[in-house]
Amino acid sequence: MRWDDWEIIKGDGALGTCVLGADLKSVNEEVAVTYIKELLFEHRMLVFRDQTLTPLAHEQFSMQFGPLRKPPGRQCVASTNFLQQVIKREEDEYNFGGSWHADGSFQPHPPMATILQAIDLPKAGGDTLFADCVLAYERLSEDTQSKIADLMGIHRAHGITDPAKYSPGAAHKSPGVGTAVSHPVVGCHPHSKKKYLYVNPAFTRQIIGFSDAESDALIDELSMHIIKPETVYRHQWRAGDVVMWDNKTTQHCAVNDYGGTRREMHRSVVYEDLDVMETP
Ligand code: SIN
Repeated sequence: MRWDDWEIIKGDGALGTCVLGADLKSVNEEVAVTYIKELLFEHRMLVFRDQTLTPLAHEQFSMQFGPLRKPPGRQCVASTNFLQQVIKREEDEYNFGGSWHADGSFQPHPPMATILQAIDLPKAGGDTLFADCVLAYERLSEDTQSKIADLMGIHRAHGITDPAKYSPGAAHKSPGVGTAVSHPVVGCHPHSKKKYLYVNPAFTRQIIGFSDAESDALIDELSMHIIKPETVYRHQWRAGDVVMWDNKTTQHCAVNDYGGTRREMHRSVVYEDLDVMETP
């Protein structure tokens, strides 16, 4: 089916827009890529059902949106250069992405989008939660919007050394590892021009100019606000699902509720060319 015949299904709730009729392995025209980008920037997260992307096709599809980068220290899927294998084995307790976060917010130029494909799913559980950070911003009181308008947050990687001891709730209270970067607490999307909240409990360590106590309190308050049920979509994965999210205007959390069973996903992370990056 041609891109202009795809059916776009959107409910009234936050996120979860479904694109039906698309076959992502045949997307290779610029016009179709531009259309998907427009959909992504408008809806912030897209669900493509019934896909049959090989690892190489997943990588090639992703590359059309911008440069890819392999996360350091992680295994690539065989025959690919950038596709990350996200696996939780039967014996594992820690799950990758199991706390609320925006991918790479600890980088000076965080990725534009992430594209995740279901490969092996548990019979029950293993959903991913997505929060709409534009809606979260719009649902703040005007007082809070003006209080946080010019604030900057410091982000740093959480640096898990022992996954078994990792506690999602306490992540931002640890100093983290690597270079600290700062981002506005309220971002403005470079394409949609929508304002969004950009604070997450995994990587946001400090609000600049605030005492530790004030900073922790504000990070907690905004983080809890972002993940209110009205702002969250829960994706129950089906075989063949590919989900693509805008990494500025959403956050996500992989639910760790399928102990003793295996889950495997393939993940590509797309960066934006620097000349169209958001300026703080
Ligand atoms: C991630 O955080 O990118 C992974 C999400 C998932 O495995 O559901």
